[in-house]
Amino acid sequence: KMAAAKNKIKIVLAQPRGFCAGVERAIDIVERALEKYGAPVYVRHEIVHNKYVVETLRARGAIFVEEIDEIPTGAVTVFSAHGVAKKVEDGALVRELGVIDATCPLVTKVHKEGRRYAEKGYDIVLIGHIGHPEVEGTLGQIPGPVHVISEPEDVAGLQVTDDERVAFVTQTTLSVNDTKDVIAALKTRFPTIIGPDTRDICYATQNRQTAVIAMAKQVDLLLVVGAHNSSNSNRLREIGQNFGIPSYLIENAAMFDPAWLEGVATIGLTAGASAPETLVQETVERIRNYCDVTVELLDGVEENVHFKLPRELADVPRPKD
Ligand code: F3S
Repeated sequence: KMAAAKNKIKIVLAQPRGFCAGVERAIDIVERALEKYGAPVYVRHEIVHNKYVVETLRARGAIFVEEIDEIPTGAVTVFSAHGVAKKVEDGALVRELGVIDATCPLVTKVHKEGRRYAEKGYDIVLIGHIGHPEVEGTLGQIPGPVHVISEPEDVAGLQVTDDERVAFVTQTTLSVNDTKDVIAALKTRFPTIIGPDTRDICYATQNRQTAVIAMAKQVDLLLVVGAHNSSNSNRLREIGQNFGIPSYLIENAAMFDPAWLEGVATIGLTAGASAPETLVQETVERIRNYCDVTVELLDGVEENVHFKLPRELADVPRPKD
């Protein structure tokens, strides 16, 4: 007996997708810290916003906590890629923690910009999402008045010390498009506002969004592999949605719902900056259960960005998986 022929479906893989240089580095730091100092290594907050990554590191001896007062005095501690507020750094000093900072260098750059503006006596507008750990960290790294906004509509309500002395910085993982509108609204209200020469949105966020925009014209369904608390992953899903394409954020292959395949000929598949490629491949395999799949790689930029490790870990061999 022959099985019924499966429907043909094409999966277009976004290029680039998945891990960025900041995430690679953060995971590498935890692995090498475990290698050098032995378990346990404490990590403040999810090292990157991905359950699979966190569980893998936990199995190797990492202990994840939200606050540093949960960490025993003197323990080896890694700060997550999102960065931390100054008071967290100070608290770690008091507890004499052996801190290894996995803050993405592109986030650290935003902290520095913010502090530079603050030193000049500017009010700072931080474009970003309240409650996201990166925003909490940036907010807590800048002394003086910081105002967090996320929409052009928020600009009218801003109360600043001096309209002529206002600067802005942004979260690194925002929508390139939405941010443009907020900055335009800021410039209308504060014509002398200053900001970064190049946007604070990082290269990885930009490239992943550009790829989804390029893909949007040729797909009927968009799948973004990523965590629900991952800012850049959510932005990718929104892009698909704004193009009128049914778009879903899935944490893993098991979350894929075959009902979504109804009437679909081409699927666009991408992954947020903190989502491992395994999860993408498992999603492709899962879809193969329902369809006769061909996979195509979207044309896109090749990234060649690498960040240096903290000096104390540079010589530690990376453990084999
Ligand atoms: Fe850094 Fe951008 Fe990744 S800020 S952690 S390179 S998403």
